Formats: sequence, C-alpha cells, structure tokens
Amino acid sequence: PLTPTGCPVSPRASAFDPFEDGYQQDPPEYVRWAREQEPVFYSPKLGYWVVTRYDDIKAVFRDNLTFSPSIALEKITPTGPEANAVLASYGYAMNRTLVNEDEPAHMPRRRALMEPFTPEALKQHEPLVRRLAREYVDRFIDDGHADLVDQMLWEVPLTVALHFLGVPEEDMDMLRQYSIAHTVNTWGRPQPHEQVQVARAVGKFWQFAGKVLEKMREDPGNPGWMQYGIRKQKALPEVVTDSYLHSMMMAGIVAAHETTANATANALKLLLEHPDAWRDLCEDPSLIPNAVEECLRHNGSIAAWRRLATKDVTIGGVDIPAGAKLLIVTSSANHDERRFDDADCFDIRRDNAGDHLTFGYGAHQCMGKNLARMEMQILLDEFTRRLPHMRLAKQRFTYVPNTSFRGPEHLCVEWDPMLNPERADR
Ligand code: HEM
Repeated sequence: PLTPTGCPVSPRASAFDPFEDGYQQDPPEYVRWAREQEPVFYSPKLGYWVVTRYDDIKAVFRDNLTFSPSIALEKITPTGPEANAVLASYGYAMNRTLVNEDEPAHMPRRRALMEPFTPEALKQHEPLVRRLAREYVDRFIDDGHADLVDQMLWEVPLTVALHFLGVPEEDMDMLRQYSIAHTVNTWGRPQPHEQVQVARAVGKFWQFAGKVLEKMREDPGNPGWMQYGIRKQKALPEVVTDSYLHSMMMAGIVAAHETTANATANALKLLLEHPDAWRDLCEDPSLIPNAVEECLRHNGSIAAWRRLATKDVTIGGVDIPAGAKLLIVTSSANHDERRFDDADCFDIRRDNAGDHLTFGYGAHQCMGKNLARMEMQILLDEFTRRLPHMRLAKQRFTYVPNTSFRGPEHLCVEWDPMLNPERADR
C-alpha cells in the first residue's frame, strides 16, 4: 500500500491495528518500533497518520490552528445505515463541546466556564470524595477480596462527576452502560451487529442528557458546573450555546468519570505490580502526589488523542497533507526515552513524571486535571492506609477495545482480613 502522499507504507505500519489485543494490553509497547524507527507513519487500516514521539506530539498539541481538535469526538469507525437510522431516531446531535471546538469559539468558552475548576472551587468537593472512599472500602474490607472496578472505582468517580456537574444521582449501572457505549461509538470498532445496540444506548444517553438539562433550566440557581454554564448563557448566549450545553451534558459525564475511574484502576494495578513502590507509598503517603503523576505517565487512562491537519505540514520530517487525520499516541510519548530517562521503568520518585501528556497540552489541556488528581490522591491515601496488605489476584486483564479510553474492566485484589490495620466498624 501507499500513503496518501504516494510513498510506500512499511510492513509494520501496514499491520498496525489499534483494535488488536497488542495495543489494548500495552499501547506504548505496541508502537515501540515506531517510536524508535518510524515515529510518524500512515496506517492504511485506520486511515490515520500515527504520531508516536514526545516532541512531535507536544508540537501538535501546541498548534491548535494547524492541528484542529474538531475530530476529537468523531466516530473513528463510521457506522452503517442501520445504526445511523437508530441514532437519528433519538435526535442524536452530538456537536462541539470544548475538547473538539476550534478557535476562535473555543477560548472564550473555556474562559467563561473555568471558574468551577479553580483550586479553591475544587476544595469543596474533597469531603465528598473522602466520605465515598471510606464508605465504599467499609463495604468490602472484611471480605478479603474485591473487584475494585465493579465494587468501587467505577461508582465513586461517577458520583463525584455527577456532583461536580450538578446532575442528580441517577441509576449508576445505566450510566455505566451508556458511557461504555459512548466510548465504543467514538473510539471503538463495533462489529456491524453490535453497532445497532451501541447506537441505541448512545441515543438514550443523548435523550437522558437533554432531559437533565431541561430540568436544570427550571432551577439554574443550584450548584454544579452545568448550572454555572446555564447561568453564563444568559450573559454570553453566543459563547455558551444550546448545542454546547446539550453536547457537554453528555460528554461531560464521560469526561469527568470514565477517565478518572480508569486512571485509578490503572494506577492501582501498576502499584500492586510493583510491590516495592506500593510498600514505599504505604509507609510514606507524602509520596502519593508524585506517584499519581508517575501512574498517569506510565499507564494513563487516555492512550491516544486526535487532531486534523488544516494545511500541508511536516511532522518529525514527514510531509502530511491538509485534511490528514492524526492519531497522536500520548501513551507512547510518555514512554519516549528522549524525554524520560529509562522511560519504561516505573519510578514513583521520578522528578519529571508530571511532564506526561495524558491530560493533553496547550489550549485544550484537560480542565478537570486537578479534580482527577485530587480524587486519585484521596483514593490512594485510603487504600494505602486501610489495605496496605492487598495484592493482585491471579487474573487476565481485559479492556474495552478502542483507541483512547483505557482501563482494566476488572481489577481483582485479595488480602487477609485478619491483618486489617483498621476495622470497618471502628
Ligand atoms: C480535555 C484527559 C479527567 C474535563 C481533556 C483532554 C484529555 C483529557 C487528553 C484533551 C486535551 C487536549 O486536547 O489537549 C483526562 C484524563 C482524566 C480527565 C486522563 C482523568 C485522569 C477530567 C475530569 C473532568 C475533565 C475529571 C471534569 C469535568 C475535561 C474538559 C476538557 C478535557 C472540560 C476540554 C478542555 C478544552 O478543550 O478546553 N481531558 N481528563 N477531565 N477534560 Fe479531561
């Protein structure tokens, strides 16, 4: 095969398939060959140019005019007419939010909606995170085993996300199903028979978001980031549009909870796979903030992100034509030896761990990064204090096949409850 610019595609680039188990299990390892030998390549299977080195990816993030984020939430696998008809029947109209909005519309909207993310504003959510972390651990601490994803790591960030957004607590299982459908719809490759089922869940999620928004509009004085947006709309109707609010109502639930649930599961998996690091954290909790950064670097919950080239451009010496779609593999950037010494080594004391690109970079960098960090730090604090003796159970980890959202579907751990340092009923 040839690239759209008429160059031959190497055999490894031809074989690249991010929906395969190799990428799902370990994205930076799967593209190690590219990072080392062919850092920017065209993938005929995906129809995307794939960028794998730290400096190239940072340069792409830095220039959001040349590299538009408009395709960030586009379906990576176009769906067939049947699934499209299902989506249409729900009036599905997911459009620009923040993450996929171009300038000049993006920055005024980001500024208008930033205040609830300031450190002072985030402080008020800490007691809730702490209370939830304690209550959920209480539920299973005497059992000696748990699937941390099913029993805690999904619901706690979801509850915090709903609280932050101002959405009344809803059926958690339903929202979990909706969120996974949204991930598969956006970044996955559902088989034709799955597409319709996914479309139905996404359509229902869209309608649910619309209903919640309607209710909020009746009483926009309540706390919450979405109510804040509704109030801002009064003063800035062109900046905070109806389409934005409806799209964000749905995308926000996913952005705020699935990312954090996965990040915490990845972090605990990584720490328990490195018992020395885990023991150090249990003995010295002041290491937790840097350990969180190192977990986000080494095995973050977003593996890759997307941009669209708006003009002919060169990345890492490779000519890319206008209109090219880019898969920027941030998880690979995070393992780039040029940036991180001994990059594959997991080191909770690494001094530049925070340079990772898991939250993106530049104008669109994750607005919720400090909320996510705070949640992860509190959850790790509770686990290291109450379950320092837990270990991974024997298991094979599975992932929902997609390019971007990444975390184990289950995380089974075990411990001897007789050795619990602190009992649930105390
Ligand atoms: C944007 C990752 C948690 C809200 C982003 C982007 C990434 C990301 C990669 C795109 C950055 C770019 O294009 O440069 C993550 C990860 C999280 C997380 C890994 C958890 C560990 C959250 C939370 C919220 C949130 C808790 C809370 C609402 C947002 C928003 C944007 C964004 C609003 C769009 C910012 C803009 O385009 O201006 N996030 N995120 N995220 N994230 Fe997060």
